[in-house]
Amino acid sequence: MLRLDYSNCLSEIVGEQGISRQEIESLKEELVKAHKNVYEKKSKGLLGFMELPYKIDDAKKIESFAKKYKNKFENFVVIGIGGSALGNIALQTALRHPYWNLLDRKNRGGWLRLFVPDNVDPELISGLLDTINLKKTLINVISKSGTTAECLANFFVIREKLIKKVGKKNYSKHLIFTTDAQKGYLRELFNKGEAFASFEIPANVGGRFSVLSPVGLVSAAFTGIDIEKLLSGAKEMAERCKTEDVYKNPALMYAGVQYLLYKKGKIMNVVMPYSNALYGFADWFRQLWAESLGKKQNNAGQIVNVGPTPIKALGATDQHSQVQLYIEGPYDKVITFLSVEKYRKNVKIPKTSDNHYLGGHTLNELIKSEEQATRLALARQNRPNCTIILPEISESAAGELIYFFELATAYAGELFNINAFDQPGVELGKQLTYALLGRPGYEEKRKELEKQLNKNSKQMHII
Ligand code: PA5
Repeated sequence: MLRLDYSNCLSEIVGEQGISRQEIESLKEELVKAHKNVYEKKSKGLLGFMELPYKIDDAKKIESFAKKYKNKFENFVVIGIGGSALGNIALQTALRHPYWNLLDRKNRGGWLRLFVPDNVDPELISGLLDTINLKKTLINVISKSGTTAECLANFFVIREKLIKKVGKKNYSKHLIFTTDAQKGYLRELFNKGEAFASFEIPANVGGRFSVLSPVGLVSAAFTGIDIEKLLSGAKEMAERCKTEDVYKNPALMYAGVQYLLYKKGKIMNVVMPYSNALYGFADWFRQLWAESLGKKQNNAGQIVNVGPTPIKALGATDQHSQVQLYIEGPYDKVITFLSVEKYRKNVKIPKTSDNHYLGGHTLNELIKSEEQATRLALARQNRPNCTIILPEISESAAGELIYFFELATAYAGELFNINAFDQPGVELGKQLTYALLGRPGYEEKRKELEKQLNKNSKQMHII
């Protein structure tokens, strides 16, 4: 069971940089209100992510689909960006071999290699096309809106190559679309027969909250991840967090502690796993926390420009890069460690004739000691930090962690009194891109932009 240790956020350990038990007590009423608001939104059908852990039948369907098609292919490619890619990477990184794509098929248990090129960097996409055999590749194009420029552009580039490789008659047999049931260009393309299968993203599940929907589950199933166990872990966390008692509900406590610390100037939240396998989760969390909580207006329409900045770091690697700043720099951060009690491998450091102090220990002991040392060093310098402890990295633990962070984000949205489920800033960026590329319907926006570019070009200071 996932545990949250927030002791090092308390002032009895980190002095005035931390929060007191009294402050948590005083926030209780607001926390209960946040909990109630979230559940009220759920009961109105607005928070689809809270229903996903219970959709075991959908997971079963995805599993049979993966079993049916896996032998026809060698590679699985996800085309998507943001919430339509980061969860796939997080699951793959956490739950598969660190060099999965280099293993032969037998050592992959007959499952597929996975590639998630989540950018429109021309070198990245050409590099992928140089590397994989499209004849043996199944491609899942994922976009909730079905219109995102990056996703569609990569799709068009790959589709052209696919047609050249397998022919006009066959290319759709390599394509799956995962998108809204009704809306968007991708759905239109599916209805025209461009892909042989499609999965639906429930309308009430936002992009960054969608990893437990087909968005994350399909690619996971094609790499042999037990997606039913993933959902059952998420369900355990969902059940645990049904209480409004902050001392029993870890997601509510995490949101509350982060909120109080933010108010005290800890405006950055560094998520630092001591596990390469969980680094993808730190990246996934970054989007979840940033896009959900970074908002200009509050729910009353007032300008608040609020939001904690999530940062990712990796232990022990970043002890040699970032930790100096975290320990001695400005008092503007809280560190969230992701800690694994039992690694899946045990590696002994050999004893040698030079009798070095490391000999006879294990890498497990070393990384654990480093984690403990960093935590202690931070606390000694009055730097608030908390630890999310996973007994091990498994499908069920990953499910718990996902749901924990998603729900904590929803609670934090309530505490900040903002809408955690929209993303007007992202949408603005998308619209300006459409205007610059000359998409029909965006002519006015383009004129506005041209004016702005003109003005800016007269005020340029470049050396
Ligand atoms: O969380 C979000 O809503 C966004 O980050 C989206 O996931 C991202 O913009 C991709 O959008 P779409 O899935 O519609 O292509």
